[in-house]
Amino acid sequence: MTILTNITIKIWRQEGPDTEGRFETHQIPEISDEASFLELLDILNERLIEEGKEAIVFDHDCREGICGTCSMMIDGQAHGPQKGTATCQLHMRTFSSGDEIVVEPWRATAFPIIKDLMVDRAPFDRIMEVGGFITAPTGGAPDANIIPIPKPVIDASMDAASCIGCGACVAACPNGAANLFTAAKITHLNLLPQGQAERYKRAEAMVEKMDEYFGSCTNHGECEAACPKEISIDTIATMNVDYWKSKFKNRQHLDR
Ligand code: FES
Repeated sequence: MTILTNITIKIWRQEGPDTEGRFETHQIPEISDEASFLELLDILNERLIEEGKEAIVFDHDCREGICGTCSMMIDGQAHGPQKGTATCQLHMRTFSSGDEIVVEPWRATAFPIIKDLMVDRAPFDRIMEVGGFITAPTGGAPDANIIPIPKPVIDASMDAASCIGCGACVAACPNGAANLFTAAKITHLNLLPQGQAERYKRAEAMVEKMDEYFGSCTNHGECEAACPKEISIDTIATMNVDYWKSKFKNRQHLDR
């Protein structure tokens, strides 16, 4: 274990969605390189509370890279400098003594700031509500296991299913597009036999709901680079193919 010294945190503080925000600077004299980034914020918050000040508001739940809530920009990168890593899995050993670390909330019109580092990602829920599910009865796990699915298909579906809905793809995209998130959710279900019944209706509904809130994809590829689950932008091609097929007249009668 190594102790890092003289870490400076420049962190965004904002009272609410309609108030002006500002950076606040804090010194952390000593911290273990084994501490996670969220533990660094916990230590800072304990100190602020002891001093009678208001703690920094940030989202977190699982702290093991599953829930996707620990969303923040660290030194201008979604979830920080380590590839394929959510903020809760980022450790202080990624930084060096004397570093100044800049921490901000997601900057995206579709994700308004609630307070400090916490943003409202409800538009993702609106997309899921219109198609991120199947209605066919699937039975229990043993029933699902008797449906033969080719290995490359299940692998591609499960890779897409690893999306944790954190919003890094939107925050990293210069257009504020949510194509990687939506494509991951559509691809996960549309590749599986259980997802076929609503395949084209799902693609159409989710893409059109996405367009109500988010910008358009122009193939920058920042989403793929920022994704803590390293989801491929190939999923966007799958989504686009299914979306355009859904618009063909001869497909529409299949789903409706
Ligand atoms: S706290 Fe759940 S993914 Fe980071």
